[in-house]
Amino acid sequence: MADDETRVGVVYHDAVSDEQQAAMNWLRTQPMDTRVLSFTELQSGTADVDALWWHRDAPFEGREVRAATVEAFESFLADGGGLLLTLRALSAVERLGIDPVAPDVTGVESVTEPTGVLWRPIYDDHTAVSAFDSVRIPVCDRGAVPIARYERVVPSRGEVLASAIRGERDVPHEMTVVSWNRGSGVVGVGAPVAFDEPADPTVATARSDLVAGCLSAVVGGDQPHRPKSASSLAALREALADDPTRPRYHFTPPANWLNDPNGLICWNGQYHVFYQYNPAGPFHNAIHWGHTVSDDLLHWRDEPVALAPSPGGPDRDGCWSGCAVDDDGTPTILYTGGNGRWQLPCVATSPDPKLRRWEKDPGNPVIEEPPSELELLSSEHWEVEFRDHAVWREGDTWYQIIGSGVVDRGGTALLYASSDLREWEYLGPLLVGSDGHGAVWECPELLELGDRSLLHVSNYEDVVYFLGRLREGTFEAEHQGVLDHGDFYAPQSLRDDDRYLTWGWLPETRGPSAQWDAGWSGVLSLPRVLSLGDDGRLRQRPAAEVDQLRRRRLSTAVPDTIGGDRHTLGVGGRTLEVALDVSLADASAFELSVFESADREERTAIRYTRESQVVVDRSASSRDGIGATDSQRMPVTPYDEPLSLRAFLDESVLELYANGRHCLTSRVYPSPESAGISVATEGGRASLRSFDVWALEAAITPGPRPSSRAGEEPQ
Ligand code: FRU
Repeated sequence: MADDETRVGVVYHDAVSDEQQAAMNWLRTQPMDTRVLSFTELQSGTADVDALWWHRDAPFEGREVRAATVEAFESFLADGGGLLLTLRALSAVERLGIDPVAPDVTGVESVTEPTGVLWRPIYDDHTAVSAFDSVRIPVCDRGAVPIARYERVVPSRGEVLASAIRGERDVPHEMTVVSWNRGSGVVGVGAPVAFDEPADPTVATARSDLVAGCLSAVVGGDQPHRPKSASSLAALREALADDPTRPRYHFTPPANWLNDPNGLICWNGQYHVFYQYNPAGPFHNAIHWGHTVSDDLLHWRDEPVALAPSPGGPDRDGCWSGCAVDDDGTPTILYTGGNGRWQLPCVATSPDPKLRRWEKDPGNPVIEEPPSELELLSSEHWEVEFRDHAVWREGDTWYQIIGSGVVDRGGTALLYASSDLREWEYLGPLLVGSDGHGAVWECPELLELGDRSLLHVSNYEDVVYFLGRLREGTFEAEHQGVLDHGDFYAPQSLRDDDRYLTWGWLPETRGPSAQWDAGWSGVLSLPRVLSLGDDGRLRQRPAAEVDQLRRRRLSTAVPDTIGGDRHTLGVGGRTLEVALDVSLADASAFELSVFESADREERTAIRYTRESQVVVDRSASSRDGIGATDSQRMPVTPYDEPLSLRAFLDESVLELYANGRHCLTSRVYPSPESAGISVATEGGRASLRSFDVWALEAAITPGPRPSSRAGEEPQ
């Protein structure tokens, strides 16, 4: 911590600006020993201070900082000094060799409302914010203020400590405070901490407290670096372990953001799941590939991030969704690189039996532009919607499909062929959707299910599937349906011997601020086995391994016939499987209510109706109104009397399987104590042929921390 003895050197280049003078005047009011150093003095090595503070309002271009100055900063840090960079000095991190990725936004911002930092709750015990009891800290309320921040890119080594607030709004993608574990600590604050601007007294106090806190932090040592090793990811997971909304046996990211499952592959006897991951917080932005591995499909170990955008590369803005294949012994992934207004296919291979290290192909992108034969959709952000990959092999030929949309027609999966996964020939659209199938298809995937193929696509709303046959490069659909009628998106599958295992992304239904406060976002579904029934229709069941999560059968004493009064079970829980077979007899509906509070004010009702529907009613799921409140419906026609239901409850997940055919997954946010279960009917009696409740194992844990850091080198 800084105290009267702490020596801070304020550095400047050429001349001191009004803003720099105001900052120095402020610093002199602080209980620290202050001196002022020109770059020339810094270079002469006479800086006998604990920390340097560079507060720069002028534009930063880099070339004005000479090699000798860079060396002076480097040796100051190497000798254990601390460094605070504020306003546009944050842009100097690349030039100073602190991070290869510089902020992508700098300029002068006209501030008209309380603006400041949105601190990450996971770092709320950081010295910089010890004066605050909120993570939302306004530091400026008016003026034209120079700023620097990360927006489309994230620092490669530094850890983002805060994003931004503007008035009442959280703005997660504007990342304003970053720390690096160099010297005794480096912190960069690109938020508008300007001392020469007037400010309301509470805002001015917050600004002083934040900057004073950052100075204390950089002399205090041990600043967060980006967590990259398996053990530091486990520590992140541990920090979130007490969150009552955090699923216990569905996979979640260690912290931060998860969307689509990617690159699923069984390699050297282990299941590898990669996933779309933003290391900078629980929001979608500069996407990396997270990685986790399992021996049994139930217990997962966090692995270091597998793919990160390359500065200046064809994936500089993000490594988007893709798949993995075994190219005659070489694990190979195809993924979408984001670069400005373009999204194009890229290839990477792994020389590492544990699939931790990936090498990007120097020929990326492997397809240089979308096909010109079709008029493909563009959007506000993209020149052409053209992304996501599913690859398979027939004989010596590789095929892949890529998601897109045809103007005035609908979503499409574009088919390509290759002999080497690098040179691709465009063959045409595998299928173009029609009305109701969505304008753009994301994450298309083609699975061979015996004598039918299944094509599924994600159309921003639903995951639509088509069952049919592939004939000469086109898909002839015979049946269609929706893979899951709830909060389930962008699934991907893994061929495991003679079965397909499919995982989907279960997005949050609570708002961005609630996700920010939680520190994490996104869940993966249970692994599902997709197959074809004797009737030629789709079957979906949890993988058989999921049964091994059952720890204890709870004794329920539910009568065989339910009618009249509601029956409240004497048992409950938040990580359960409820399995039942029910026939409606003369009832018009049967209801299973879960996540119930003692007064039943909070509950999530699952109703099976005579109209052959299963309805999840979320109107009372959260007493505090968190998350979606609508009802979700899953038709269970035409075969479904009685109903055989498996309901998997996991804190904020309710994953339903009906008759081994239909799925509906729901994200709900009941209060921690709401764990009751009851059953009831409407308009008559229903007979329960079986009713079982199992307590399930909390399988997703931080896990043992590896004792050595071998094989965990930073990216
Ligand atoms: C689907 C999706 C994909 C894209 C990825 C980006 O959720 O939008 O189309 O590749 O997510 O994270």
